Amino acid sequence: MFLGLDLGTSSAKAVIVDDSGQQVAEASAHLNVSRPYPLWSEQDPADWVTASETAICSLPKRFREQVRGLGLSGQMHGATLLDGSGTPLRPAILWNDGRAHLECSEIEDKEPALRTITGNKAMPGFTAPKLAWVRKNEPEIFSKTRKVVLPKDYLRFVWTGDYTTDMSDASGTLWLDVRARAWSQEMLTGTGLEDGHMPILFEGTAVTGELSQSAATRLGLPRVPVAAGAGDQAAGAVGASVLQPGEASLSLGTSGVLFLVTDQFRPNVDEATHAFCHAVPETWHQMAVILSAASAVDAVARMAGFASAVEAYAAAEAHGSSDGVLFLPYLSGERTPHDDPHAKGAFFGLTSETTPASLVHAALEGVAFAFSDGQDVLKRGGGEIETVSVIGGGARSSYWGTLLASVLDRPLLYREGAERGPANGAARLARLAVTSEPITDVCAPGPVRETIAPVPHLKEAYAERFETWRALYRSTKHLMPQGAQ
Ligand code: XUL
Repeated sequence: MFLGLDLGTSSAKAVIVDDSGQQVAEASAHLNVSRPYPLWSEQDPADWVTASETAICSLPKRFREQVRGLGLSGQMHGATLLDGSGTPLRPAILWNDGRAHLECSEIEDKEPALRTITGNKAMPGFTAPKLAWVRKNEPEIFSKTRKVVLPKDYLRFVWTGDYTTDMSDASGTLWLDVRARAWSQEMLTGTGLEDGHMPILFEGTAVTGELSQSAATRLGLPRVPVAAGAGDQAAGAVGASVLQPGEASLSLGTSGVLFLVTDQFRPNVDEATHAFCHAVPETWHQMAVILSAASAVDAVARMAGFASAVEAYAAAEAHGSSDGVLFLPYLSGERTPHDDPHAKGAFFGLTSETTPASLVHAALEGVAFAFSDGQDVLKRGGGEIETVSVIGGGARSSYWGTLLASVLDRPLLYREGAERGPANGAARLARLAVTSEPITDVCAPGPVRETIAPVPHLKEAYAERFETWRALYRSTKHLMPQGAQ
């Protein structure tokens, strides 16, 4: 059996998968995000440990005892600054934190080759601009920093004592030469860091170390090998068997990501496409990342007064329309295509007939439109999408799938267990690392539960509304307060 742990933003999730690849147990524990100032988004690394250990310890003991390997996946980009003894120096600065926007242009000016080396544009969600912010605003913390790790790799350090990471997560730091799959000295020097601050790099399918005796005892596991694993998007793609060029996943979690495997390293820097290493060797991918997806629908459900998201989805489906209301889902700013941390959410077109259900429907559509923006960017960057598998919590709603398929004008695959997402991929990476079986065997695609096709009349109606939706951001962008949320 193999254990996959995904350190998400709203929860830590653990799954155990048996030797035939079937999931036998699953547990999760909730996490809160702290937003003390406009644009800030932070979590205490100690909470990651508590939530992850709670989730793992909630899995049945009889399965935990049979685990042969642990794979880690997690929210990407988070800057976790550690002192010489491995103690966090401040709360971690998360992927959806927009405070480092000025530092992005500063580090681009300082290192003109940044886009060539990293294949990406400096955006505030990435790790390097956050370190530049800390260096400028919290110099005493910067000077005490001995290691900078990503969220899942902090768990690895606590459980194994190793400072290591994997290529897919390292790609989101802006310190990696993504083509060469190696740390870039130029990029590190540009933010006042050196090799010694970085964890050691491994491919996602490699073993990085083993659980310490104390961690194994706390978690009720044998002292198993730990796989490098992956950032949550690459791990989600591995879980959905998205590994060949042309295969894509569409992830409906706190963030929303259209992830496309490419035939080689293919940057498209200007339109805020992410070009990163995949979790398996010699493979790369592109991503269009929207910062609020299922989380935007949940937020609207709360604002509209629904007692739960389940109730809100059901009401939107029963109502069947947004009654002409448009929604911009930019509740935490936006990355692809706008690269605008100041972007805000908005409702447009309210009338006295608007109901709570129409608002939730507008939120489902607004997120679908944001994905359509992302799909266009990937296409313009030469990406050729052949198949799309939907993953993450939002994969539970087939109704949302119909809206998404109609807006994107393509069929969407829903495989068994699609809602599980990255934890399943992390368990697969653990198995690959421990057994060295062929990737094609371990990552064979699971059965397709449902294929959702575009509905012709929705497709036409949404194609028209999409242009108005796009114009809404363009024409209100200058009114969105810079800083205040
Ligand atoms: C990807 C990204 C998000 C986080 C969410 O670039 O920022 O998808 O990984 O967990």
